[in-house]
Amino acid sequence: MNARFFHVGTGFGLLILGGVLGFWLHPGARLLPAAPVIAGGDAARGAQLVMLGGCDDCHTPKLASGAPDMTRRFSGYHAGMPLPPALSGVITGNMQLTAWRGPWGLTLSANITPDRKTGIGGWTLPQFIHTLRSGVDPQGRPLRPPMDTALLQQLPRADLADIFAYLQSVQPIVNPVGIARGKPAAVNPGRRRPAGHL
Ligand code: HEC
Repeated sequence: MNARFFHVGTGFGLLILGGVLGFWLHPGARLLPAAPVIAGGDAARGAQLVMLGGCDDCHTPKLASGAPDMTRRFSGYHAGMPLPPALSGVITGNMQLTAWRGPWGLTLSANITPDRKTGIGGWTLPQFIHTLRSGVDPQGRPLRPPMDTALLQQLPRADLADIFAYLQSVQPIVNPVGIARGKPAAVNPGRRRPAGHL
């Protein structure tokens, strides 16, 4: 074996050895897939983020006391709840915070329980992430105010996966909210996240 070949061979040997050692020392890092695909989130952490994000404020109906009705948690606007009045130059909401009216028209809070037909039980994680980041749902419908995608889309993918995991774990509730017609989301456009953001 000539000297040059020996050196090259040694170099490769060291590289392979380094890779094996690296695997043993940092197995977690080596197991991470190249693409940021997240199979499932941490529902317990998602529960905390949902509290922090105030999702109950608008998505959970309220009791007469004003407290969220946890037996109907995340089920959105229910038929028969009062609708807010249309007043010029003012954004109005009902006492349940499940219906809103403004220059864009009327918005009803969506059912975000895991019911497959009337909630988001049929959504995949990529669809959920795309919806919150683009402000457009899987049916191609722009989310209108006061659903705040401008802030939520700044969350790292892992946080959105945690929120999704939690929402998929709660009680599914059948409640077809229906789509209130109105103008597109001119007031609440989904903003593109800067490239390279998590
Ligand atoms: C200030 C009120 C408000 C808050 C707070 C809020 N939402 Fe919403 N959300 C809405 C309304 C209203 C809609 C329906 C928008 C529409 O139909 O255009 C909606 C729609 C959605 C949708 C789309 C559902 C569908 O079927 O298209 C998802 C998903 C969602 N919200 C998740 C969340 C999560 C998760 C949180 C908490 C981190 C949250 N929302 C907090 C008001 C709110």
